Amino acid sequence: MNLVPMSEILNEANKKGYAVGGFNINNLEFLQGIIEAAEEVKAPLILQTSEGAMKYIGRYYVTGMVEAATRDIEIPVALHLDHGGSFEKAMECIRLGYSSVMFDGSHYSFEKNIELTKKVVEAAHSVGVSVEAELGQLGGTEDDITVEEEDATFTKPEEAVEFVDRTGVDALAVAIGTAHGVYEGDPELDFERLSEINEKTEVPLVLHGASGVTDNDVRKAVTLGINKVNVNTNFQQAFSAKVRELMDNDPELYDPRKYCGPGREAIKEKVKEKIDVLGSGNKAVN
Ligand code: G3H
Ligand code: ZN
Repeated sequence: MNLVPMSEILNEANKKGYAVGGFNINNLEFLQGIIEAAEEVKAPLILQTSEGAMKYIGRYYVTGMVEAATRDIEIPVALHLDHGGSFEKAMECIRLGYSSVMFDGSHYSFEKNIELTKKVVEAAHSVGVSVEAELGQLGGTEDDITVEEEDATFTKPEEAVEFVDRTGVDALAVAIGTAHGVYEGDPELDFERLSEINEKTEVPLVLHGASGVTDNDVRKAVTLGINKVNVNTNFQQAFSAKVRELMDNDPELYDPRKYCGPGREAIKEKVKEKIDVLGSGNKAVN
């Protein structure tokens, strides 16, 4: 696959003050919509699969599709495991050819999260693969995993410094008030906390659960140090809304190309909107 390590993409974004999309793929149409949009606006791109999406698509289909999608690509693309739950899963993805993995130990104790993350970092770095980790815990639902609001915890700036120092991670996901999936109300982001974490650490910071955050808040988070913004739910919504509209308008519709194609276009438009908010358009030009 024609991929670059995620750290190459994010270190550049960190230096220049913009954010790159960590965009989740769930099937072929997601991959095509996302990659076509990023190419058209010349934005560096981080394609990512959750463990659930890998299972749904099939791991060799993921790498086969990404191999095809990146064959003649001119933008830098990383393939990243999103919310990897174990050392073994991270190693599986590295063997498959992913250029980046997330180890999400956010539900473990601080010490256990450090111990497990460090182990992944040592193995991944020895073969040039980047690692993202998470400290603090987001609420909401992704795949089959739900974290209740009362169990969500914000990232502590002092702990972030120690965590980055002791693990050597390439990117750190912070919990500052966002949640995965569909929100019940408007999220209130703790910008002061984000700014403090950014001042105290050098590492690119990642915003998860960005679908329910307003464009203005995402822009503000980027100015305060976020360099990677994860989006999945908004693309799922865009695809499904288009398919639903077409099905509702024509109950006789049966050819999947006639609704999946427009669904793919809807994702592509949404991706372009996101890239515009993140400021990564035209950043893939030398
Ligand atoms: O890791 C993936 C993202 O955090 C997904 O967030 O559900 O708001 O799209 P989202
Ligand atoms: Zn996430």
